[in-house]
Amino acid sequence: MTTSSKDEGFGAAGGAAGAGGDGPRVAVIGAGKMGQTLIGGWLDAGAVNGGKVVATAAHADRAARVARDFGIEGTIDNRAAVEGADIVMLAVKPQTADLVLAEIGDALRPEQLVVSILASVTTSYIEDRLPGPIPVVRAMPNTPSRVGAGMTAICAGRHASADHVAESERLFLPLGRAVVADEKHMDAITGLSASGPAFLYIVIEALADGGVKVGLPRKMAIELAAQTCLGAGKMVLDTDRHPALLKDEVTTPAGCTVDGILRLEEGGLRVTLIKAIVEAAARAGELVSDE
Ligand SMILES: NC(=O)c1ccc[n+]([C@@H]2O[C@H](COP(=O)([O-])OP(=O)(O)OC[C@H]3O[C@@H](n4cnc5c(N)ncnc54)[C@H](OP(=O)(O)O)[C@@H]3O)[C@@H](O)[C@H]2O)c1
Repeated sequence: MTTSSKDEGFGAAGGAAGAGGDGPRVAVIGAGKMGQTLIGGWLDAGAVNGGKVVATAAHADRAARVARDFGIEGTIDNRAAVEGADIVMLAVKPQTADLVLAEIGDALRPEQLVVSILASVTTSYIEDRLPGPIPVVRAMPNTPSRVGAGMTAICAGRHASADHVAESERLFLPLGRAVVADEKHMDAITGLSASGPAFLYIVIEALADGGVKVGLPRKMAIELAAQTCLGAGKMVLDTDRHPALLKDEVTTPAGCTVDGILRLEEGGLRVTLIKAIVEAAARAGELVSDE
């Protein structure tokens, strides 16, 4: 697995074939929560040119709202959207994959790149529903991509080259960090880093409740808790030290932190978090077969 953090995206480095110096033409098929997260993150980072982005939705009012909010093109016509796109980003629900692939499949060409962020849906599932050797890359981003602190894992399908993987990395790097992973790990990654923000929002809320319990104003408690989580994550990434060593640095003998740790262990925090990832990862593998 290789890891990259914010680097040069398309905006700075040039990018997809035929896109020119200001980035690829991107069609986002399914501009819901995650599609909009990516579009907003790209535009804020200057990673894509809004004039080259088209987003689709099932409902015309959603497509119009997304177009207005982001200053891009919006439509409910998936086939029209993929025509002329360099990158076709699939961002519908896993259960809608069949329908959308049947609709756009024969409009796709091998010069285009399909990037799917659908949980549970494998590259071979997509390839089997396309008429030709269209390159497919599977990616699993998360919602902090909206603020440039995202984590995306990428894996290549059987017609995707190293250049296609690099092209996909250039798309996600401006939104945070990216790793290239083996496809067999994608459900695990979904359970950890795609579901993870929800788990950590609960942790932040609970830490803040603790602060409120010992007398802090709510707003201040939330800020302290959130920045503390951000800082702890940054320490792990920037120092490349094991979290246990960093924890030991905070834990003075007979100090207050070790008393807090005792409570966390009593409450089963570790085993609870481990089981949360196991459950989420198992469920991630099932979504495509839901009705
Ligand atoms: N949410 C996350 O944190 C997250 C993280 C990583 C990956 N993902 C993946 O991202 C995908 C989307 O998740 P989401 O949370 O963004 O779901 P969502 O908010 O429900 O968005 C799905 C979007 O797809 C649109 N859509 C439905 N049928 C369509 C069709 N036939 N053609 C074009 N658009 C269609 C919907 O349009 P309308 O709004 O008009 O109904 C909606 O905007 C999922 O596959 C999920 O696994 C999500």
